[in-house]
Amino acid sequence: MMKLIGISTKEEILNILSETNPDKISEITKEAYRVKVETIGSRVHLRGLIELSNICVKNCYYCGIRADNESVNRYELSDEHVMEGAEFALRAGYGSLVLQAGERSSPGYTKHVTSLVKRIKELSEGKLGITLSLGEQNIETYREWYEAGAHRYLLRIETSNPDLYSKIHPNNTLHSWERRVQAIKDLITVGYQTGTGVMIGLPYQTLDDLADDLLFIKNIGVHMVGMGPYLKHSETPLGRLGVNTTSLDLTLKMVSALRLLLPRINIAATTAMQVIDPYGRERAVLAGANIIMPNMTITEVRENYQIYENKPGIKDDADISKSKLEENLAKMGIEIGWNEWGDSSAFEH
Ligand code: 5AD
Ligand code: SF4
Repeated sequence: MMKLIGISTKEEILNILSETNPDKISEITKEAYRVKVETIGSRVHLRGLIELSNICVKNCYYCGIRADNESVNRYELSDEHVMEGAEFALRAGYGSLVLQAGERSSPGYTKHVTSLVKRIKELSEGKLGITLSLGEQNIETYREWYEAGAHRYLLRIETSNPDLYSKIHPNNTLHSWERRVQAIKDLITVGYQTGTGVMIGLPYQTLDDLADDLLFIKNIGVHMVGMGPYLKHSETPLGRLGVNTTSLDLTLKMVSALRLLLPRINIAATTAMQVIDPYGRERAVLAGANIIMPNMTITEVRENYQIYENKPGIKDDADISKSKLEENLAKMGIEIGWNEWGDSSAFEH
């Protein structure tokens, strides 16, 4: 029998990732689920997601809203729409919201984010937890947003392999792997509960890379992880290569291996999983994930935030996203932790 409890080495991770027997894969996911329930409980926590703006200065080769994609209608939500989203999250009992956008760092923009964070904190009398997912910024900006009231930040490393990173990004200072690692360290220094993550099934990526990704996550000491399958977008350089082989199984094995490696961490069941399987997120929860981020962005702009193709729910509004998710979770017997922040117990420890 393969070692599952207390795994720590690359070899042990690779044994999990390379498993192809469906019965064995189901044993792995069940064991990861059991470890999760035993360590942090069975409830899933929700973070309402608001996609603030699809304006981005970067040109990641895989992403549909990269700066050079001229067929994207660029938008920025008004403050009123953002505050409506925050009110929705509060009423819905999400406990916590995520503000996500393409990357920008002009002083006008960063100050605007600061004021939004403050307003959301005031509106909810401190009740709503705020997570930011706004890319690489200097440490002063991270500090300013933290002091304004944000307490979590998501910044995926995308891949822990610098060579692979250079194949999926332009080769310039705006897209430096070393700079990105430094930004993750800065976030931890400032005091954020920090999340990172990777894409699974990238062109050129090997199982060895993925095992290293999990060890990178462990070694850098983050508290949360969001990872999902790479999905092609045909208006991107990587998408035009046409490679798209990611299976949900590989993603589930990554989630389970991570849960077994780091039992206390928060692991998101991501929207990209839902693209390759309508129950992808729920299946990830049953493989060890414990966070879901239902979309709350107003319907009018949703179709403009397509980082990959076939993004689900772009015609839905926040209410529909909520009820669909509740229905699916109930069907699978998964309980929701309403009105709780659901902080990473890896952070508390
Ligand atoms: N497929 C899957 N995930 C993607 N992301 C960007 N483009 C794609 C894609 N084509 C992910 C990246 C980024 C996050 C916001 O979305 O990991 O960090
Ligand atoms: Fe911009 Fe993020 Fe897309 Fe890269 S992945 S182009 S930083 S939105």
